[in-house]
Amino acid sequence: MATQTVNMNCHGWAARDPSGVLSPYEFNRRDIAADDVSIRITHCGVCYADVVWTKNYHGDSKYPVVPGHEIVGLVKEVGPNVKRFNVGDHVGVGTYVNSCRDCEYCNQGMEVNCVKGSVFTFNGVDADGSITKGGYSSFIVVHERYCYKIPENYPSHLAAPLLCAGITVYSPMMRHNMNQPGKSLGVIGLGGLGHMAVLFGKAFGLKVTVLSTSIAKKEEALTLLGADNFVISSDEQKMKALAGSLDFIVDTASGDHQFDPYLCLLKTQGAYVLVGFPREVKFSPASLLVGMKTFSGSITGGTKVTQEMLEFCAAKKIYPKVEVVPIEYANDALERLMKKDVKYRFVIDIENSLK
Ligand SMILES: NC(=O)c1ccc[n+]([C@@H]2O[C@H](COP(=O)([O-])OP(=O)(O)OC[C@H]3O[C@@H](n4cnc5c(N)ncnc54)[C@H](OP(=O)(O)O)[C@@H]3O)[C@@H](O)[C@H]2O)c1
Ligand SMILES: [Zn+2]
Ligand SMILES: [Zn+2]
Repeated sequence: MATQTVNMNCHGWAARDPSGVLSPYEFNRRDIAADDVSIRITHCGVCYADVVWTKNYHGDSKYPVVPGHEIVGLVKEVGPNVKRFNVGDHVGVGTYVNSCRDCEYCNQGMEVNCVKGSVFTFNGVDADGSITKGGYSSFIVVHERYCYKIPENYPSHLAAPLLCAGITVYSPMMRHNMNQPGKSLGVIGLGGLGHMAVLFGKAFGLKVTVLSTSIAKKEEALTLLGADNFVISSDEQKMKALAGSLDFIVDTASGDHQFDPYLCLLKTQGAYVLVGFPREVKFSPASLLVGMKTFSGSITGGTKVTQEMLEFCAAKKIYPKVEVVPIEYANDALERLMKKDVKYRFVIDIENSLK
């Protein structure tokens, strides 16, 4: 046993069972291949997905689970075929680390939609059969295709949340043409994803209404994030006043909720994008048919739109609001996500706390 531990090359924190409790864990990353980069991780964001898979909510967790898919760090080694990166580059890795690289979606830079399935950054089964391990760890080895350049001078701790929370809302917002100044956007749930939707909405010139369950988030939503309106979704009168007023809704709620009360807020031909992951989606057909509404879903984004989003955030000076915490705080951070107690993304300072 002792010798095995000595040989492990990567330090991380892992959950061992559905209690989801994380503790230090040593494991091996693969040797660098010709197209790989090896990245020393400096920061990793804490996504609700980390709660989902450490606690086996979907019944498919493969323990030990090392979570984390908002990874930022510095390139420490590159394989001989790597073209886009050099040692020392400031880079990121998001929610997937592999795909077939040869299907219609991969060929368009939409690798997350790969017909053979993209390989998620943690709890995924990679091409060699190994179970992927995420960013609550000291380094990661990844094919250069799934690695992003962090724009110059964009701070590492702020870049991390862009790699899941940011791209997950940016990609469908662009696909549904939500970047039309003057239109109105509703954002359900003000956590990691939701606060990015507010920031993008304001950058696109939209009138943004936050639809929240937490009154404690009102003040900052209006001042710090620049939302135009804040409504508690259980307030029937305020919800009634909003009926038929929104062009778009981005639903980022992590928990179960009704859909009809939100769908009726849309204007005729309005678009509703679901990115949160409730256990069930159920609504009256009339909520969709009357008013010719569109209801759609989305999962993170391809490599092309992800790199574009990073450049957009740098150009427009869009910065997530984060709480930087040490790795020892990871269990508390996950607990706080479950209590909706987050403003608005925890980012783990891997560099200074994971020893
Ligand atoms: N589609 C994708 O690619 C993708 C990527 C990442 C995450 N996700 C999913 O997206 C969701 C949000 O992730 P996140 O990291 O942003 O989570 P988060 O930071 O924990 O924020 C989620 C927010 O949703 C709201 N909420 C929670 N339960 C609710 C309920 N029952 N009804 C209404 N609102 C509720 C709360 O905001 P208020 O306090 O304002 O109500 C909460 O803070 C999760 O389900 C996650 O699994 C999907
Ligand atoms: Zn995520
Ligand atoms: Zn593919």
